[in-house]
Amino acid sequence: MKVIIPKETKERERRVALSPDVVSTLVKAGFECLVEKEAGIQSYFPDKAYETAGAQMVSDRKDLYGQADVVLKVNAPSEEEISWMKKDAVLISLMYAATNPALVEACVKQGISAFSMDAIPRISRAQKMDVLSSQANLAGYKAVIIGAAALGKIFPLLMTAAGTLKPAKVVIMGAGVAGLQAIATAKRLGAIVEVSDIRPETKEQVESLGGKFIEFKGDDSIKVEGGYVKNVSEDFLKKQQALITKHISEADLVITTALIPGRKAPVLITEDMVKAMRMGSVIVDMAVEQGGNCVLSEINKHVVKHGVTIIGEANLPSLLPLNASELYAKNISAFLTHLAKKDGFLWELEEEITKGSLIVHKGVAVHPSVAQAVPA
Ligand code: NAI
Repeated sequence: MKVIIPKETKERERRVALSPDVVSTLVKAGFECLVEKEAGIQSYFPDKAYETAGAQMVSDRKDLYGQADVVLKVNAPSEEEISWMKKDAVLISLMYAATNPALVEACVKQGISAFSMDAIPRISRAQKMDVLSSQANLAGYKAVIIGAAALGKIFPLLMTAAGTLKPAKVVIMGAGVAGLQAIATAKRLGAIVEVSDIRPETKEQVESLGGKFIEFKGDDSIKVEGGYVKNVSEDFLKKQQALITKHISEADLVITTALIPGRKAPVLITEDMVKAMRMGSVIVDMAVEQGGNCVLSEINKHVVKHGVTIIGEANLPSLLPLNASELYAKNISAFLTHLAKKDGFLWELEEEITKGSLIVHKGVAVHPSVAQAVPA
C-alpha cells in the first residue's frame, strides 16, 4: 500500500504526521511511503532523513494525493485536497467530525474512507494510539514554560545575600492530561502549585504530584461519564468562580485546561476575577480554541488586560514540533498497523477501536456523531 505524508498547510502548524524513524519502521513492515518535499522541515526533519529512511519524496501535492492508498496527516486535508484522492483511498487524521460537517461531506462525496485520530476510544489497548494524550501532555508542559517566560519573576524560592525571593504561585484549573503535566512541570521549576478540578478522583492524582487540591463542594449538576465532565450548571460555575477568585488573586500564573467534550469550554475566569489579580500576573488559557476558560482571552494572541497578560495559544503542541511530531508519528503508525497490513485494510467493523474512530466508510458516513447529519 502507498502511504502518503503531505505537508501540513494549516496556519501556525509545524507538525508532520510521520517522523523519519517511523517511516523507516513502516517501510520495513512493507508499506511504501511517499512524503511531500519539505513536509518535515518545520519539525526539523530534513528531506534527506526521510530518503534515508526509505521514503520517496514528491514535490507535486496533487500528484501525491492522487497516488495515495492511505493519507496520513495531523490536521484534516482541505476539501480540494480530498477531491484529489482516489475513490476507496483512506484518510487518517484529526477530524473533529462532529463539529466539521463540511469535511465529512467532502469525504462522502469523494467515496473515500476516513478515520479520525481524535475519536479513538480511550481504552487501555488504544493508549499507544492516543494523540489527544500525547499532544495534551506536551501542551501542558509548554503552557508552563510560556507562562513562566511571560512572568516578571522566577518560580523557585531564592535566598541571596540581597534578600529572599518567595516562590511563585501557580494555579492550575483542570487536572486532565494537560493539567497533570503542567503541575509536574511547575513543581519541577520550584513553584507552589494549587489545582482545581471537579472530578473528585483528581484530588489524589494532584497530591501525588505535589500539588495542593482546592477543595469545594460539588452539586447534582456535575455529570461525569467515562472520565469526562459531561455537564455542569451555570449556577455551579458561579459558585466555583467565587471560590477560585481568592486563589487566583494570589497567583502569579494561572493555567486553565478545563474542557467539556463536544461543548463550549466552561467559563472559569470572569473579567472581575481578572481585575482582582495582581499586576504582572499571567493567564495561559489552554481552552481558547473551544471558546476559552477566561472571558478575556483571544485566540493566538497575548493580550494585556487590567495589568494581566492573557495568553491564548490555540496550538501549543505545534510550539514543540519535534517532540509533538515524534509522538504523533508513533500514535498514527500504531493505529495504521492496527487497522491494516501491508496489502490492505482489515475492515473489522465491529472491533472497538475501528468502530469508535471510523467516520466515513467507502463513501458512507457511519459514525453515530455524524451519520444523521450527512445523507448517504
Ligand atoms: P479534558 O481535556 O476533556 O478536560 C480537562 C480537565 O478539565 C478534566 O480533568 C476535567 O475534569 C476538567 N474540568 C472540566 N470542567 C471543569 C471545571 N468547571 N473546573 C475545573 N476543571 C474542570 O480531559 P482529558 O485531559 O482529555 O482527559 C481526562 C480524562 O480522560 C481522565 O479521566 C483521564 O484519566 C482519561 N483518560 C483516559 C485514557 C485511557 O484510558 N487511555 C487516556 C487519557 C485520558
